[in-house]
Amino acid sequence: MNDLAWRLMALGARLSRKIHSVAPQTVRVDDVFGDDDLILDLGGGGEGIIGRLRGHQVVAVDIRKDELDDTPAGPIKVVADARNLPFPDGSFEAATAFFFLMYVPAADRSAVLKEASRVLAPGATLRIWDVVISVPGERAPNAFVVPLRVKLPSRTIRTGYGVSWKGREMSADSVAQAARDVGFAVSAVERKGQTLHLVLTRASR
Ligand SMILES: C[S@@+](CC[C@H](N)C(=O)[O-])C[C@H]1O[C@@H](n2cnc3c(N)ncnc32)[C@H](O)[C@@H]1O
Repeated sequence: MNDLAWRLMALGARLSRKIHSVAPQTVRVDDVFGDDDLILDLGGGGEGIIGRLRGHQVVAVDIRKDELDDTPAGPIKVVADARNLPFPDGSFEAATAFFFLMYVPAADRSAVLKEASRVLAPGATLRIWDVVISVPGERAPNAFVVPLRVKLPSRTIRTGYGVSWKGREMSADSVAQAARDVGFAVSAVERKGQTLHLVLTRASR
């Protein structure tokens, strides 16, 4: 999609009364991964951003097969629930959650973080990119949408992610606290516009 078409789509969403859309956001995803890292991408279906970055080094886990079917070829695709991962302890050198936690009810995010911590090697990092979601008012629309421009080292992808709003409230503080509670150290927290980026480090055993 070209930039004008994407901006028109984002404007349409913002004008709709049935959708709550935040202003279009831009997120840069740097390639910080090592060539030997095995990377677990949680909720890695759909656009498969991390899979596009690191191809066969990525294990994309998604609860929906149809989402993985839509993801470009490259990553290893595994249909599984991120709350109960089918991998042994310490299997991965890195993990990512790119606009995934917004799809997980706030009440379930601790279970997801705990599983991520379990399957990461000691000292490995979980990188999270996501959107700040406020508590919906009583008359708020059901749908919450974020139009997104994703800047990868080699290209820009224009997309949008949407969820049912209720029960999805999220802030950098709430994610950081949930991460600490399951034993992660919070190594970095960045806010840019309505987006957040956290780097969590798995404690050594
Ligand atoms: C739309 S994707 C987010 C963007 C995606 N990471 C990308 O790169 O385009 C979010 C995915 O999370 C998946 N999902 C939701 N709950 C899940 C869970 N408990 N375990 C695994 N995947 C889940 C959804 O099926 C959906 O495909």
